[in-house]
Amino acid sequence: MRSKNSGLALSGQEVAAAREKARHMNLDGISKTADLQASLRAALSSDMVLTDPAEMLRFCRDWHGDVTSGAVAVLRPRSTVDVANAVRACRDLQLTIVPQGGNTGLVLGGIPDQPDTQVVISLERMNAIRNVDADDFSAVVEAGCILSEIKDDVAARGMYFPLALGTQGSCRIGGNVSTNAGGINVLRYGMTRELVLGLEVVLPDGTIFNGLSTLRKDNRGIDLKQLFIGAEGTLGIITAVSIKLTPYPEQVATALLGLNSLDDAIKLYRRARRDCCDLMSAFEFMPPLAFVLAREAIPDLAMPIAGDYPAYVLMEISGSGLVDIADLMERFLTGVMEDGLVVDGVIAASQAQARNLWLFREGMNEGQAKRGPHMRTDISVQLSRLADFVRDAEQAVLDALPDCVCVSYGHVGDGNVHLNVLPPAGIVAEEIAARIYKAKTVVNQVVDDYHGSISAEHGIGRLKRADFDARLDPTRRALLTALKQAIDPSLVMNPGCQLNFPNLS
Ligand code: FAD
Ligand code: LAC
Ligand code: ZN
Repeated sequence: MRSKNSGLALSGQEVAAAREKARHMNLDGISKTADLQASLRAALSSDMVLTDPAEMLRFCRDWHGDVTSGAVAVLRPRSTVDVANAVRACRDLQLTIVPQGGNTGLVLGGIPDQPDTQVVISLERMNAIRNVDADDFSAVVEAGCILSEIKDDVAARGMYFPLALGTQGSCRIGGNVSTNAGGINVLRYGMTRELVLGLEVVLPDGTIFNGLSTLRKDNRGIDLKQLFIGAEGTLGIITAVSIKLTPYPEQVATALLGLNSLDDAIKLYRRARRDCCDLMSAFEFMPPLAFVLAREAIPDLAMPIAGDYPAYVLMEISGSGLVDIADLMERFLTGVMEDGLVVDGVIAASQAQARNLWLFREGMNEGQAKRGPHMRTDISVQLSRLADFVRDAEQAVLDALPDCVCVSYGHVGDGNVHLNVLPPAGIVAEEIAARIYKAKTVVNQVVDDYHGSISAEHGIGRLKRADFDARLDPTRRALLTALKQAIDPSLVMNPGCQLNFPNLS
């Protein structure tokens, strides 16, 4: 980062001296970077090393385009041995490493922020499906496999990989594991952690930890793979993953429901858990604004439901084998409509109609992105307090920022809400940044009051580091520091992501 002009008055001589010094520093900086790039090319196969700023751009900019940085190089290994060699080369050159999968992360953990010292290691070329075992309901996949490609591959063999996110067409399984991603199917199948049977990881010193077991039960001591799940690349680079599969849910019933309130949505969720025999696979909450936002991103989306309701739920029941899913959904909805919990609803009559319903849920993220920089959150509180939390947090935001709009949506069955705040149109960047900061401060205070989490599923990255740090109790800090010390004492892996470790540097 270049420092800004301090504005102090300097004599002509001082200005000339400063210019000369800056020229040298600049040249030193350039030649140092060029030397490092040359050393990387010499140590690794040259087609692994990208240094052209234009080619590196997509690895150095976040999904929303809010932040753009640079790196000494982007390395794109093709094998686990390549990754190990790349890690050793970086360590020898005193470069630090930012691992990257699909670069869809929302907390700036996968893009660099120190262009002169960081190297991105992208796993995108490690995208082989190494093995699928239909008898065992398991597969071994490389970290760079795109999530939807894994899902499609196993679906063609009658199996299902239940992790499901809006970005599944571009996020990669190593990134999913490193963020312990959640998504829309968590209420039935769990977070990514529960879908991982084993991991292969390149450690910060270049050694390879081979934990690619597909055993379902294995209590031989501490389960080391858990350390790397959700670590956001701070302890090593995941190169392959053994995953748990389930039978493919051949029958899926999808319904969009209009309700009177979020309170009713939560009552409906409880009832669905009881009535639908654990066959519910998604239960997403959306406010009316969701439909406006989705149509700003995808203008020709057909409105699925006639009336306007204060709250909407997108619900899915699914299964395979002998159960009758369509009948279950119909009987369930008849009951809850008779009881007045659901005011109106539509059940998708085809896969295309179901897809159309999901496009509203997915499109609302894109719609928010199109409105420009805004405040995004990823909060969890106890399900029994979720409706109160949303009411209190939205009120607190509107009291502090009356010209902003709140949009609260998400995986309410998991007690997880994305309470986002959209600044008004037509204000300048500084005013937007000030509102985002204020909104974050206000919402985090309410999260603390409710003993909730500031990161339910997206991780900490660099974006939430200070907020995470400020809430860390001493025992947890000591354990995290001891782990970092044991596994990455030279602080090679993803510096500044999750935490800084000033005592180790
Ligand atoms: P990246 O963004 O590339 O990286 C994420 C983190 O993992 C970084 O810290 C990176 O350094 C680290 N990392 C990546 N690969 C490796 C590796 N092989 N080894 C070690 N560390 C690695 N998330 C949810 O949980 N639920 C959602 O519903 C959801 N919906 C989303 C919707 C949209 C529109 C967007 C833009 C994002 C959404 N996300 C969601 C966030 C994001 O998609 C997930 O966090 C995803 O798991 C990131 O995967 P990735 O491959 O893109 O990882
Ligand atoms: C979602 C992302 C933002 O649920 O997590 O759409
Ligand atoms: Zn989410």
